[in-house]
Amino acid sequence: MSIYIAGTGSYLPERILTNADLEKLVDTSDEWIRVRTGIEERHLAARDQSSGDMAKIAAERALEAAGISGADLSAIIVASTTPDYTFPNTACLLQHALGCRPILCYDLSAACSGLLYSLENATSLMRANKKYRYVLVCGAEKLSGIVDWSDRNTCVLFGDGAGAFVLENRDGGDDHLPVSCLGANGSYSDTLKLPAGGSRNPASFETVEKRMHYIKMEGRETFKLAIKAMVESSNQVLTDSGVSPDQVALVIPHQANRRIIQAVAQRLTVPPDRVFDNVNRYGNTSAASIGIAFDDAVRSGRLKRGDLVLLTSFGSGLTWGAMLFRY
Ligand code: COA
Repeated sequence: MSIYIAGTGSYLPERILTNADLEKLVDTSDEWIRVRTGIEERHLAARDQSSGDMAKIAAERALEAAGISGADLSAIIVASTTPDYTFPNTACLLQHALGCRPILCYDLSAACSGLLYSLENATSLMRANKKYRYVLVCGAEKLSGIVDWSDRNTCVLFGDGAGAFVLENRDGGDDHLPVSCLGANGSYSDTLKLPAGGSRNPASFETVEKRMHYIKMEGRETFKLAIKAMVESSNQVLTDSGVSPDQVALVIPHQANRRIIQAVAQRLTVPPDRVFDNVNRYGNTSAASIGIAFDDAVRSGRLKRGDLVLLTSFGSGLTWGAMLFRY
């Protein structure tokens, strides 16, 4: 049996926040943001629009591309650092919204690596049990709700959106892909975190007053660790699959920062035109970024059926990983 990406979809909310808009909010400049990050604009969800709402639209587009309906799905996994609620999970909300049968539904928490972790989870389920024929994997984020709009170190980096994959387990294939390498190191857990809202620091007047419900990040440390982790996991996947960098049609890295993307490409010895980069338009959409980028690559013709595509990501935890798929 082989696992294929039967369809992809994405959704970006209507409202666009440009670097010029940010100049009016914090002490920053369009030039600083472009030079340090490559980001020019990002999309922001409407006030009443949740991660689940965005995931639903991305999922509907992925189902349409796969030529199936919600009723055909056998599991849903949602990756998000900004789920609709602590509970119930967002996957259950999607199950209802998409008209699915009473199937397995769960959320997975691995920050910006959440989508890769979820793809690993989905493919493992599918390999273990043939009843999981079609699995929906979504990454969806409303990061604008946890960004401190008075902190120039972080507010320029993030955006909202959703990306979705419909995976299909087809009989008769003999492809050994996807091959993956995923990892984590919790000793760096303070590098990038949302300090309050969980059981460590439940929401209180004090946590709100101390602005503890916003993203806190050590940018420079995160930058270095990101490059190392993505390069090492990608190289491991290439070695394990016996594929050389020149056989990879497209590398789709987590879209956090153009300088990180370029450094990863350089170290992997992949030509720049084979590294996907749309960070200028969307900023860092965390668990949604690889889904949005993949769908962008498919719909713009950058990816063709049969192409080998290497996904690699990095995020809070610290978590990271790489996966090689045949599209
Ligand atoms: N506008 C203007 N100046 C800013 C700024 C902004 N938006 N944000 C930070 N600065 C300032 C800093 O305060 C610092 O000033 P100081 O030297 O007076 O203290 C200066 O710019 C340089 O900061 P530095 O940390 O050296 O910049 P950098 O080159 O590392 O770039 C990041 C900062 C955040 C863009 C970069 O570190 C980064 O992208 N890190 C990874 C972040 C990431 O991807 N996180 C998500 C992972 S999933």
